[in-house]
Amino acid sequence: MARWHALLACPHCGSDLAEKRGSLVCAAGHSFDIARQGYVNLLPGGAEVGTADTREMVGSRRAFFASGHYRSLVERVAAVAADAVSDVPGCIIDAGAGTGEYLAAVLEATPGRVGLALDLSKHAARHAARAHPDAGAVVCDVWGRLPVRDGVAAAVMCVFAPRNAAETARVLAPGGALVVVTPTSRHLSEIIGPLGMLTVDPDKGARLERTLGADFVRRRLEPLEYSATLSVDDMVSLAMMGPSAWHATPDRVRAEAERLGDGTDVSVSVEIGVWRVDRSSDVSDAL
Ligand SMILES: C[S@@+](CC[C@H](N)C(=O)[O-])C[C@H]1O[C@@H](n2cnc3c(N)ncnc32)[C@H](O)[C@@H]1O
Ligand SMILES: [Zn+2]
Repeated sequence: MARWHALLACPHCGSDLAEKRGSLVCAAGHSFDIARQGYVNLLPGGAEVGTADTREMVGSRRAFFASGHYRSLVERVAAVAADAVSDVPGCIIDAGAGTGEYLAAVLEATPGRVGLALDLSKHAARHAARAHPDAGAVVCDVWGRLPVRDGVAAAVMCVFAPRNAAETARVLAPGGALVVVTPTSRHLSEIIGPLGMLTVDPDKGARLERTLGADFVRRRLEPLEYSATLSVDDMVSLAMMGPSAWHATPDRVRAEAERLGDGTDVSVSVEIGVWRVDRSSDVSDAL
């Protein structure tokens, strides 16, 4: 049995899963096939829903990561996450992991840990399953109950991905960290207009506080900003790997990228936040 299988819980009844002849099975008999590509689909009902990245988006994401322009970002996120879990035992979960680039880097920075990539897209999960030898990948919806046992995670990563605060708090071990990466208003700002990409919500920081603030307190905020010099192909991959791809046409995006030309300088600008479960209400309850 792969080490990551022991972290999982049945999406129907919440009980542990054991491996039996190429499937994961719970005590109540719910059974899930382990796909040939190494991931397991734990979506109740098995159907993917709307916001899952498509095969084409995942292809663009892989091409962009291969360009190396996000290497500094991936490495900084991994360093912050590794530091945040230095004295907390447990696995690393990446919620909305995409192709698993960030998870693989965190696992490299914290040797010996097991990683779990959660994503609604089976195309993403297929690649995340191969991102690192100590990582497994699960297709699931992070807005539902996570198919993960209570308290197993030293860290939950959310990198440009949806965040479910209550479920994250449930799966975190005591002292564990939620590591959130969000774009600032300067992120990719040079190409957002020209390529018709979605703009960053200027209220993002306040929104994050509202969605996480009930369960978590932020302990660290690390800004990261640098300039990347992109080719036309890089810009097309970047535009087509994210949510902008839902309403963009590749030909139009390419024509606009060609107008900007090879060698376009673009800002990468994010905030890396480390949040911990807020235990202050536990204290007042105990008084
Ligand atoms: C913008 S991408 C970020 C991927 C990865 N964290 C990265 O930065 O390379 C958002 C990811 O969230 C996934 N996603 C969207 N809605 C989801 C949901 N409800 N549950 C789980 N994953 C979801 C998409 O399939 C996609 O892989
Ligand atoms: Zn079950």
